[in-house]
Amino acid sequence: MAGLALSTSLPVPSAERLAADVEALARLTRPDRPYTRRAFSEEDRAARAWLAERMAEAGLEVHADAAANVIGRRPGRTAGPPLVIGSHLDTVQEGGRFDGIAGVLAGLEVARCLHAAGHRLAGPLEVIDFTCEEPSDFGLSTIGSRVMSGKLDAATATRLRDSSGRSLADALAAVGGRPDRLDEARRAPGAIARYLELHIEQSASLDQAGIPVGVVTAIAAPSRFRVTVRGRQDHAGGTAMAIRRDALAAAAELVLAVERIAREVGRAMVGTVGALDVRPNMVNIVPGEVTLLADFRGIEPAAIAETIGRFEATVADVETRRGVAIDVAPIVREEPLPIDADMVEHAAAAAEAVGVPYRRLTSGASHDANHVARLCPVGLLFVACRDGRSHCPEEWAEPAHLAAGTRVLLELLLRLDTARP
Ligand code: GLV
Ligand code: MN
Ligand code: MN
Repeated sequence: MAGLALSTSLPVPSAERLAADVEALARLTRPDRPYTRRAFSEEDRAARAWLAERMAEAGLEVHADAAANVIGRRPGRTAGPPLVIGSHLDTVQEGGRFDGIAGVLAGLEVARCLHAAGHRLAGPLEVIDFTCEEPSDFGLSTIGSRVMSGKLDAATATRLRDSSGRSLADALAAVGGRPDRLDEARRAPGAIARYLELHIEQSASLDQAGIPVGVVTAIAAPSRFRVTVRGRQDHAGGTAMAIRRDALAAAAELVLAVERIAREVGRAMVGTVGALDVRPNMVNIVPGEVTLLADFRGIEPAAIAETIGRFEATVADVETRRGVAIDVAPIVREEPLPIDADMVEHAAAAAEAVGVPYRRLTSGASHDANHVARLCPVGLLFVACRDGRSHCPEEWAEPAHLAAGTRVLLELLLRLDTARP
């Protein structure tokens, strides 16, 4: 399958340049919150401006679409649907330097290599920084790719509010979007030729095996729930244990159930309660109301359905036993995404052609690719991530591995460009 590398006549992606870009973006965050760049923040705006400048230097035509996705475009020899390389520059709270960032910088580096060689692709290339891939204060993640794939419209963006009452539409406008014309950012199926994303693995399999690059065969997807437990607020001293309806004690059972059920179902299922809101949250009050956010992920639809079914049964049991009322509101229920065999084979062939060791694997995290898959076939490449640590400041990928992944990405892009209909 190896064949000759098409990218040999182009400059090789540079580990030094990628490392310098990672550090430049890291420096654009606040010293008291290193690496944190929540979507719609000042740091987000600074990173977008930085990226737009770097894209222009790489010969890309830069604009933001109505969803504030930052897009750098390189025209091809002919018009037609673009090949797109994308990911995101926003991070979780207390996040790291690579999640999403690696993919945007890899796309930028690919554009630089093409620009330096004056190499015109057969068709257009777009490099995209998607708006707000991570969970936002508006209760939704992957906002830019949702809009692009037709899953989020202007009316919803106006309706969704954060705790201060600000609308998602206003937040989009503040980072350069046009929420009143959000539909203009939508693309029709087929309007993108192929979508490619490079991402750090966020698990330890590549790192443990000493392999720099992964070719992803399927992407898990989250099912998320807002669970509100209503008990009875009472005096912590005067209320006998027998008559309590403690919302936090009931919620604690659910937290443990999420963990236990995912373990018991197995088949790569994971379950997390990552956020808890306790009211009134004082030492001498039996909690009256608790909200928790639960996140289940899996690759197999049957395993996901079994997990959610068992969780709902546990909720009913806790309600009855503890005399509390529990409301389970779905936030999102995404479908896991098998990657087209064709794209997996192209990616594997690209890695072989440029001599980069790789392994096939699945993704536990979800990505903008999950949504763009509605528009075109997608490919996902992983780069080894030290100890599998991610969504934390310790997140690290070796520059040499990033460069190796970017080399594969460039080769894959050229192969897909050559294979355009
Ligand atoms: C993205 O970070 C995810 O939660 O998978
Ligand atoms: Mn993330
Ligand atoms: Mn990510």
